[in-house]
Formats: sequence, structure tokens, C-alpha cells
Amino acid sequence: MGGMEKKRIVVLTGAGVSAESGISTFRDSDGLWEHYRVEDVATHEAYERDPALVLDFYNQRRRQLAEVQPNEAHRQLARLEERYSVEVITQNIDNLHERAGSSRVLHLHGELTKGRSDARPELTVDIGYSDIRLGDLAPDGTQLRPHIVWFGEAVPNIEPAAELCSEAEIFIVVGTSMAVYPAAGLIHYVPREAECYVVDPKEVPVSRRVNFIREVATRGVTQLVNQLMQ
Ligand code: APR
Repeated sequence: MGGMEKKRIVVLTGAGVSAESGISTFRDSDGLWEHYRVEDVATHEAYERDPALVLDFYNQRRRQLAEVQPNEAHRQLARLEERYSVEVITQNIDNLHERAGSSRVLHLHGELTKGRSDARPELTVDIGYSDIRLGDLAPDGTQLRPHIVWFGEAVPNIEPAAELCSEAEIFIVVGTSMAVYPAAGLIHYVPREAECYVVDPKEVPVSRRVNFIREVATRGVTQLVNQLMQ
């Protein structure tokens, strides 16, 4: 009975999976939101008010991304593909899952290495690690903006993400405070009979029974993947 079919794993990651690569989380002490106000840098209103400031905020994030490397947690999640059908759903705007070798990565909140039209979100362009400046243009001739889902904006990938979650046989959550919706609601789509794991050094609110691995991502994910690969 379907002996050749690989078991389906869905992984939901947040800032914590990239913390040990040197990228700050948002809500930990010394997290990004302690240094910046969301309303100043991560909303469309902020962008309208002071586009240069918002562009600069993401230019800094992108420059930093060019300097850091995937960590063991990203690599171990990529290794799962040897034995499982793996879908990574990430809230992160970095590209560290891809650089570690994960072949299917769905970004809920956008990607630093892309820009797009403000009016037509589907008009994206790869920009690599280069800055976006005022005057840089999207394919439709309008000002290029970061391909980031700001607070208050729709999350176009939430539907495909929910669909993936509804087919999960194993669901793994790594390094997210589960404080931001709709991403945090994805766990409700995971079938009741799926095995669930949460890797996080801190307590995270989840509304179902999970195997909690209270470790940093590099240790916790390595431990879990070793177990799943046996
Ligand atoms: N390993 C694993 N988890 C860690 C580590 C680590 N080394 N360090 C911190 N964490 C955990 C924290 O305990 C916390 O639960 O990572 C989580 C980080 O939570 P947040 O800072 O809230 O980040 P995240 O959940 O990704 O935020 C969601 O909010 O600001 C927006 O759009 C942004 O995508 C982001 C979204």
C-alpha cells in the first residue's frame, strides 16, 4: 500500500531558526522590535510617509543577510528530504533555508532578495543583495519596493500554506513566538492524527498536544532530525 510514497513533513519556521546565524529575532530581548517601531518601518503607511527610511531599513537587513550563513538547523531540515517529502513554510524573509539546500520553501512574509511593484504585488524581480534606492523601478515603471508583507497587508501565500498543512503527516514548528496571524493559525489546518513537534528554547502557546523540544534550533532540530531519520 503506497510503500514508495515518502511521508509528508511540513515545517513552519520563524526568526528563531535563523537566530544562531546571527540574525536578530523580533520579540526576544534585544530583538528588532526593541530597536525599531513596527509603525515606523514595517507598514505601508510608514513607506508612504518616509520611503527612504523604510528602504534603508530593508537595505540594512539585506546587507546583513549577505554576510551570514545558514546554520545547522537549516542544514538538518534540508537533510530530511533524503527520506521525506518536505515542505518548508517560513515567516522569515531571509534565504537561509534555500542556501542550506531545502528545495521547497514557501515564504509567508516575502523575501529580502526580491523587489516588486507596489501596485501589482505579483510583479517581482530578483535583486540579490543590492540596495533598493528611490528611483529604482519595478517592471511596470513604478517605484520598486521591497517584496515584504508589511503589517496590515494581505498574506497571499497563506492559502497554499494552509493547503500544505492540511496534508502534513508530521508537523514541525521551529523558532516562532506564534504571535503573528495568520501564520500562527496554520497549526489548525494540521490533521489531528499528525505528529507535532515544537523546537524553541522558550514556552510557545500552541493549541494542541505537541512534543515540545525546549532547545535552541541547532541542538533541537539536530536531535529531532536524527530521530526522524532512524
Ligand atoms: N533557536 C530556536 N528558537 C529561538 C532561538 C534559537 N536559537 N532564539 C530565539 N528563539 C525563539 C524565541 O523563543 C521565540 O519564540 O524564536 C521565537 C522568535 O519569535 P519572534 O521574534 O516573535 O519571531 P517570529 O515568530 O518569526 O515573528 C513572526 O512577526 O515581526 C513579524 O514579520 C515578522 O515574520 C515575523 C513575524
